[in-house]
Amino acid sequence: MNPEHQTPQATYDLRLLARSAEKWRDSAALRAVYEDIFAEVRERLSPGPTLEIGSGIGLAKTLLPELTTSDVEKTPYVDRALSAYDLAQEAGAWANVFAFDVLHHLREPLRFLAAAGAALRPGGRLVLVEPAATPVGRWFYRFFHHEPCRPEEIGPPFDFSGGKGEFANMGMAWALFVEHRAEVEHRLFAFGLRLDEVRMRDGIAYPLTGGFSKPALLPACALRVLLAGERALPAMVRRKIGLRMVSVLTRLER
Ligand SMILES: C[S@@+](CC[C@H](N)C(=O)[O-])C[C@H]1O[C@@H](n2cnc3c(N)ncnc32)[C@H](O)[C@@H]1O
Repeated sequence: MNPEHQTPQATYDLRLLARSAEKWRDSAALRAVYEDIFAEVRERLSPGPTLEIGSGIGLAKTLLPELTTSDVEKTPYVDRALSAYDLAQEAGAWANVFAFDVLHHLREPLRFLAAAGAALRPGGRLVLVEPAATPVGRWFYRFFHHEPCRPEEIGPPFDFSGGKGEFANMGMAWALFVEHRAEVEHRLFAFGLRLDEVRMRDGIAYPLTGGFSKPALLPACALRVLLAGERALPAMVRRKIGLRMVSVLTRLER
């Protein structure tokens, strides 16, 4: 990895990755929450090969070993270099495309969704795990996260390609798949994609892990109990308090 020479498509500082890798290795609490998220992801994948984009430190591969990992540049953590925007070159090769915390770093989210649609086989799945700008999510990210969460700044034509360098808006998935759902679904249909599920998750369990920068406030075993409780909450409650959302899109058979 040579962070000083990131590709022009990079909107994320890859120097943050080494520190995250250490924290991931040392924190059983953090891994407990990620294991729960990946169990939910696994249930949604269709049979066949899965490509992850924007893999970062490749932690998904420790939980879904069958993944092919990638990022905008080849690092020691990932199998190959691939930009989200170049997915169309994979032309129907994949049963699943998966991305965790990547969509909100993309200046051209619809260009990515079109490319992902092209990379998937008919019946294949695009599974996206993203921050959720629920009422509690918005508050939480505003006070406890360094990247902006401003879904109100995301609207048609969903194109932020005017700027340069790092980019993040944690409100991206909420704006696209909740607030502008009808319009985005229309665009998705043109890409051969159907939005099947948008599920909010993660209440207080994730903050209690301390994330990638602070010590955990609960041991992993207590967090597992809490996660089971959060999973059982009614959808309307998760829609108010969820800090993350899992979106599932299916490639149409045509
Ligand atoms: C917040 S990190 C998430 C990393 C990893 N998925 C995880 O959850 O630990 C965002 C990732 O998206 C990647 N990324 C940014 N722009 C991208 C693009 N155009 N194509 C592919 N990946 C991209 C970054 O390099 C970075 O690894």
